[in-house]
Amino acid sequence: MNDILDAIFQRRAVKVFEPVEISQGLREQILNAARHAPSSFNAQPYKLYWVGSAAEKAAVAKLCMGQSPAETASALVVAVADIGSGPATTQGQLEWMRKSNFAEAKIRDYERTAKIGRILFMPGPLGIFAAIKRALFWLMNLWMTIGMPPLSRQDFFKWATKSTSLACQNLMIAAEALGVNTCPMEGFDGRRLSQYLGLSHRYHEIVMVIAIGKKSPAYVQPPQWRRPLDMTVTVL
Ligand SMILES: Cc1cc2nc3c(=O)[nH]c(=O)nc-3n(C[C@H](O)[C@H](O)[C@H](O)COP(=O)(O)O)c2cc1C
Repeated sequence: MNDILDAIFQRRAVKVFEPVEISQGLREQILNAARHAPSSFNAQPYKLYWVGSAAEKAAVAKLCMGQSPAETASALVVAVADIGSGPATTQGQLEWMRKSNFAEAKIRDYERTAKIGRILFMPGPLGIFAAIKRALFWLMNLWMTIGMPPLSRQDFFKWATKSTSLACQNLMIAAEALGVNTCPMEGFDGRRLSQYLGLSHRYHEIVMVIAIGKKSPAYVQPPQWRRPLDMTVTVL
């Protein structure tokens, strides 16, 4: 079978790891694969915190309620949806376009689209702009086919969480392909972990923590169950 499919089908959530050194090269390959995931508007609205030092790992593992994948992992990755990253991302892409000698028209196009995106993606003070947008899009939808942009802060986090999760999946498949195992976890104390990482309540929400390491030979993986294809899939 093809290597990517092998990694997809072999990947399991490993609950007990054995100590193993993750080289800087391996770490970079794994993180690079994560950030190559597709994202909405290519906004890449997330931050990944690699927790590799013993002291930091122990502290973060404790905030993952001492779960065994966290306690035994060689590294932990905290994946954070970041809805405040827009301006810096736009700036970064503009600089890249200029350095790569994109035509002026293309750069202006991108600037215009980014400006519209910024307006669309702005809840405004007290959510007033969100309410106006909601009414406007609701009216437009009466006579044209149009989607609803994110409105509330919760909508924005939902939007960013989709792209963050795709990066997480890329990370886990890449890790598997490179010979290490993972366990995604949403069992953590979000408030304390956010505080520990110095995250902003306004812009950041932790999506998951991924434990990375080498599966312990002593850990017996339970059989893997999935719903049958016809329970999950509707073919039209
Ligand atoms: C979003 C998410 C959150 C999860 N949270 C935890 C967790 O907190 N602790 C844990 O041991 N496993 C956690 N898991 C792992 C699942 O239990 C595991 O993926 C599932 O049982 C299927 O097993 P498999 O991945 O080996 O096929 C989580 C998985 C996902 C996708």
